[in-house]
Amino acid sequence: MTDKTLKNIVILTGAGISAESGIPVFRSESGLWENERIEDVCVPEALKRDPQKVHNFYNKLRRSLLDKKPNGAHLAVSKLQREWPSFSGGSVTLVTQNIDDLHEKAGSSDVIHMHGALLCARCECCGASWRQERDTFPKMPCPKCGKIGGVRPDIVFFEEMPHDMELIEKALAKCDLFLAVGTSGVVYPAAGFCRFAKSVGATCLEFNLKKSAVASDFDAGFYGKASETLPKFVDGLLSGKGLEI
Ligand code: APR
Repeated sequence: MTDKTLKNIVILTGAGISAESGIPVFRSESGLWENERIEDVCVPEALKRDPQKVHNFYNKLRRSLLDKKPNGAHLAVSKLQREWPSFSGGSVTLVTQNIDDLHEKAGSSDVIHMHGALLCARCECCGASWRQERDTFPKMPCPKCGKIGGVRPDIVFFEEMPHDMELIEKALAKCDLFLAVGTSGVVYPAAGFCRFAKSVGATCLEFNLKKSAVASDFDAGFYGKASETLPKFVDGLLSGKGLEI
């Protein structure tokens, strides 16, 4: 691959990066959306129709996070965040579609959770958001404004605007290298980030078990378990080998 000056990196992660830590992906034979209908738990209408069901669903997922540990791919991302700025003078922006906390557990900071976070709740009445480690329930009063009926898990449902889009677009607009790790490329706007990054001249690479739905948008793909391909790639970058793997 042609080498050019690399400074600013944007990493987009999806469910695949957490699969080896025991968190099921969304789309596969045993995926989350095989067992639960999106329209029952992940659209604004579901929260109005049956709030208890929605809270129950995310409470169960939140509890299931407790014993989950980051894997080599999460650790490679946090190593790159830590070491790349002094190595290159550039930046690493981490954007995840995941609602788990495995990037944080791996030591990453400033994680942009574009689809929200299971360990956060927010209030639709006053807009406040806060860290929430325990179960939530429909009649829970908001700890900030005290109103009842507005508290919900801080999850971005289908039909809702992802968090921090302005921040993400700003990072993409100045990136030299875009890495997509463990994402199927079927959910927008994240699936369009590669094209955006390409339009500003970035080199775009995907890391996946197999070619994603948007594989042809990328310059190259590294296929296999992210816990194996990503650490190797990151070590190469940090030893000055450039984009080889
Ligand atoms: N290493 C690398 N990639 C993997 C691994 C692994 N060990 N295991 C699975 N994958 C890949 C799969 O091949 C697939 O392409 O991860 C991808 C997971 O795809 P999805 O389940 O569709 O997850 P994601 O792309 O994150 O979904 C996007 O959809 O339902 C919404 O809000 C939800 O954030 C989610 C969004």
